[in-house]
Amino acid sequence: MKRLLSGIKPTGELTLGNYLGAIKQFVDMQNDYESFIFVANLHAITVYNDKEELKKRTRDLVAIYLASGLDPKKTTIFLQSENNYHNNLGWVLECNSYIGELNRMTQFKDKSKNKSANAITCGLYTYPTLMAADIILYDADVVPVGIDQKQHVELTRNIAERFNNRYGETFKIPEPFIPKTGEKIYDLQNPTKKMSKTEDNPKGCITLLEDPDKAVKKIMGAVTDSDNQIKYDLQNKPGISNLMTIYSALSNKTIAEVETEFKDSNYGTFKKAVAEEVKQFLIDLQSKYQKIIDSNMVDTVLDEGIKKARTIAQAKLNEVYEKVGLSR
Ligand code: TRP
Repeated sequence: MKRLLSGIKPTGELTLGNYLGAIKQFVDMQNDYESFIFVANLHAITVYNDKEELKKRTRDLVAIYLASGLDPKKTTIFLQSENNYHNNLGWVLECNSYIGELNRMTQFKDKSKNKSANAITCGLYTYPTLMAADIILYDADVVPVGIDQKQHVELTRNIAERFNNRYGETFKIPEPFIPKTGEKIYDLQNPTKKMSKTEDNPKGCITLLEDPDKAVKKIMGAVTDSDNQIKYDLQNKPGISNLMTIYSALSNKTIAEVETEFKDSNYGTFKKAVAEEVKQFLIDLQSKYQKIIDSNMVDTVLDEGIKKARTIAQAKLNEVYEKVGLSR
C-alpha cells in the first residue's frame, strides 16, 4: 500500500474550506493509502500564537479529524511537536538546501511582504525545510495539499533528490496531490478569494464549530450574480459556482446532477437547499466533535499515533545520520 501524509496547522479556526478541501480528502483516501495525518503545530509557531489558544486548537483539530471520519486504525494521527525526529531531519535538510531556493518560496514572500526584517521570524523562512522533513521522514508517496502548498512539495522533491544524489538513495520522492478544483472553497462575500480562517470578513467564512443557524444566514447572504441561473461557471459566476461546489461536495452529488436538480429553481430556492445541507452537516459534525472532546479519545489516539510515527521516523533518521557522518 502506498503511503499518504499531510498535516494542517492549528492556527485560526477551521473552516468549511479546510474540511472540503483537505480533511474530507484525507477521509476518502485513507482506504487506499497507509495514511499519516498530523497536527503541524511546529509550523504554527512560525508566527506568534497565544499558548492556551494553540493548545485548544491543537486538541480541537484532532477531535475534528476524528469527528470527520479519520479512522485511527487506518490513519496514524499525531502531533508534530511530539516527534523530535522532524526537527532533527529538518536541520539536516536546512544544511542541504540553499538560501536562493527559500528566497523563491511564494508563501514566504507573501507572508513577509511589507514587514520589516525584524518582524519576520527565521522559522517562517525555514518553514519549507521543516515541511520537507515532515514528508520524507515517512517515505510518503503522496501528499494531498492545497495549491498554495504545491511549491513546498516541489521543493521537497528537489531537496530529497539532491540528498539522494549526494549521499546515496535514502528518500522516496513524494508527489503532491492537489484535489480537483471542485474542492477549493471560496469566500462567500468575495468568491474569487479562498475561504480562509484569517479572512477579516467573518460573513464570508463558515467555521466548523460555529452556530449552524449563523452559517445558514451566511449562505443566504452569499454574494451571487444577477442572472438567476444555477449553472457552474467559475469565471463568470464564481459565487453560484462556489455554492454549487459546497452543495455537491456535502451531498455527494456531481455538479451536473446539481445543475439538473436546480434547473428550474431561482437563487433563493437553491440557497435554501445549500443552507440546509450545510446546517445538517455542521449539526452532525459538532455532535460527534462534542462526544470526542468530552471523552479521552484525543489523548488515546495521539498516544498510539506518536508511537508508530516515532518508530518509522527513528529508523529513517538513523539512516540519514549514518549517511551524513553524524554517527560514531
Ligand atoms: N504547510 C502546510 C499548510 O500550511 C502544513 C504542513 C506542514 C504540511 N507540514 C506538512 C502539509 C507536510 C503537508 C505535508 O497547510
